Amino acid sequence: MDLTQKILDLKKEKKAIILAHNYERSEVQDVADYVGDSIELSRKVMDEKDAELIVFSAVDFMAESAAILNPQKKVLLPCTGARCPMAQMLTVDEIKRAKGLYPKAPVVVYVNTLAVAKAYSDICCTSANAVQVVQSFDADTILFGPDRNLGEYVAEKTGKKIIPIPEWGFCPTHLLFQPEDIAVLKLQHPDATVMVHPECTSEIHKIADFIGSTSKMCKYAKESNSKKFIIGTEEGILHRLKKENPQKEFIIAYDGAICPNMKITTLERIYASLNEEKHHVKVPESVAKKARASLERMFEIKS
Ligand code: 13P
Ligand code: SF4
Repeated sequence: MDLTQKILDLKKEKKAIILAHNYERSEVQDVADYVGDSIELSRKVMDEKDAELIVFSAVDFMAESAAILNPQKKVLLPCTGARCPMAQMLTVDEIKRAKGLYPKAPVVVYVNTLAVAKAYSDICCTSANAVQVVQSFDADTILFGPDRNLGEYVAEKTGKKIIPIPEWGFCPTHLLFQPEDIAVLKLQHPDATVMVHPECTSEIHKIADFIGSTSKMCKYAKESNSKKFIIGTEEGILHRLKKENPQKEFIIAYDGAICPNMKITTLERIYASLNEEKHHVKVPESVAKKARASLERMFEIKS
């Protein structure tokens, strides 16, 4: 019996569901019950009633958010090595330092943070709702981190003063996209629409036709009349884009745009995770309670 079938059988036996982020390996996306961006996956976890186990095929902070949002469920991260480097970049000390300098400024943290940082924030945001979250404050100055590029995008859209915390936070995968490469691709494919993730730099934002979260990019590709797209985000998204739009063409703006943390989850690891019910994601309730409040405030914002 092939591994996919073994996973499907075990999933049924254990009353489990598998969630996967848009950047996961193609075969992992195909075995999942639901594939989405970070906010969609969180919503799915909050709405989940029947499953006893949730196998979260993504990176650490996403699985942590799931465990925080639905503490009744057992959330499994198939591979503990699936750690988003950006999520480590915003420490509690940095938040406290910035609060000391700007005591009146609200602290907005990107969901790509560890639970301890969320616990020290006023509200969370994802790339799908960061603009609306920041707009929801009357304050003109906002402490925002850890992604400096998303912060610059939000500043541009809202006109607010965004103080990046830390000053230098970034996603190593999205930094690989260079404006020169996109310029060359645009010359070769003048009819193509350029779609990028806000984690790309502001130089890339300037030359994009559409900027959005991974699922917003999928939605845009489906609804757009364009037949060809240049893509500025992790290459795993191509699987879903091609599957949902077989008649359209998708060109990655940089061939090596791979997030190794997302690709560490394999079918073998998903099977082992389900079989041995490992690795159970646990967040101490003292931290989870505050982080949950910050995440729930985000869900109250219309986006
Ligand atoms: P999305 O919420 O757009 O899926 O982004 C998550 C992420 O980690 C992008 O690098
Ligand atoms: Fe983190 Fe970047 Fe990977 Fe997203 S693509 S999970 S921000 S390292």
